[in-house]
Amino acid sequence: MGPLVSLSENIGTGRLVDRFGRVHDYLRISVTDRCNLRCLYCMPAEGVQFMDSGRLMTDEEIVRVVRVAARLGVRRLRITGGEPLVRPGIDRLIEALGAIPGIEDMAMTTNGVLLARRAERLRRAGLRRINISIDSLRPDRFAVITRGGDLSRVLEGLKAAERAGMSPIKINVVLLKGFNEDEIDDFLRLSIEKPYVVRFIEYMPIGHEDETWKNAYLPLRRVLDRCEELGYEIEPVQVPGNGPAENWRIRGGLGAFGLIHPVSEHFCAACNRLRLTADGYLKPCLYWQEEFNVRRCGGDEKAIEELFFRALDIKPERHEMAEALEGKSRSHTPTVRRMSQIGG
Ligand code: GTP
Ligand code: 5AD
Ligand code: SF4
Repeated sequence: MGPLVSLSENIGTGRLVDRFGRVHDYLRISVTDRCNLRCLYCMPAEGVQFMDSGRLMTDEEIVRVVRVAARLGVRRLRITGGEPLVRPGIDRLIEALGAIPGIEDMAMTTNGVLLARRAERLRRAGLRRINISIDSLRPDRFAVITRGGDLSRVLEGLKAAERAGMSPIKINVVLLKGFNEDEIDDFLRLSIEKPYVVRFIEYMPIGHEDETWKNAYLPLRRVLDRCEELGYEIEPVQVPGNGPAENWRIRGGLGAFGLIHPVSEHFCAACNRLRLTADGYLKPCLYWQEEFNVRRCGGDEKAIEELFFRALDIKPERHEMAEALEGKSRSHTPTVRRMSQIGG
């Protein structure tokens, strides 16, 4: 499809519509690139060089960008990292973001390690929904995937989020071939027994496209096949959220499960989101390298507004992860950032 809307038509309309007619009302904000885990699929064994704290956007800068975004029609925010709960004063930031006129929904994606003691305060600061990454329900395997994480702390965090009244609670499971694929049944059962939304996610090649990725990638068709083999009757279900998951309920279950399949079946035509990195770059697409430095605008809100339109104006129609899987060359340069430096 060719370009439908050009930058010049867009400026001044107050709406973030890209060349393909996609309306952007969702901003994912990475508040830090630091993390207290080292998941195999997210960071290399040697770790990544974290940004100096001076490179991180301040609360004031983030609030300013979101104020501009809200004037342009952004209504939903997702707070990500690295691990967002390691950012000092995160509840203050959440409170400030929630108070911006126009913001209607705010949620966080976390590894849950620090959640047990923080859930109540986060809820009071205005956080209503939370997504927690749990790639294995087996403590020993969880420790291997996260390179040392303690599953019991995460499960405590999960319970605390439930007690604090966050809802829905989603559990993110990146499926890795030969690693946790034998836990599909356990995760499906969890979605029957608990009111959680368990989301299976295809492993994406962000910032690394070597054979390790190709070998561990698993298409999500496997999950639906398992439902059939287990005799589960499933039905599509609506779940509050702004992301790409396709949600199902196993008949009689308390919760639901979701499928996020960017590689086997991309969902770019329905893309409604932009990203802000912890060091202040606006990224129109998770997969590609293009990004725009918001900090160059200083406090000039008009300049920030224009940057949003510039980012939208070059936003590609779709990613090319499937092409990467087949070893085909790509039309643009894929991002050099690791997932922990974007926030998913
Ligand atoms: P809600 O639906 O609001 O709960 O949010 P979400 O599912 O989008 O957020 P979350 O941070 O839990 O992301 C779940 C998975 O979806 C992660 O692996 C993200 O990287 C992936 N994801 C989210 N948005 C996009 C996107 O625009 N493109 C791709 N390819 N993946 C995405
Ligand atoms: N592919 C798919 N999902 C990923 N996540 C992190 N890295 C990847 C990847 N390479 C997930 C995390 C977290 C969310 C923000 O993104 O598990 O739940
Ligand atoms: Fe949007 Fe890019 Fe994600 Fe596709 S890969 S859904 S275009 S952010």
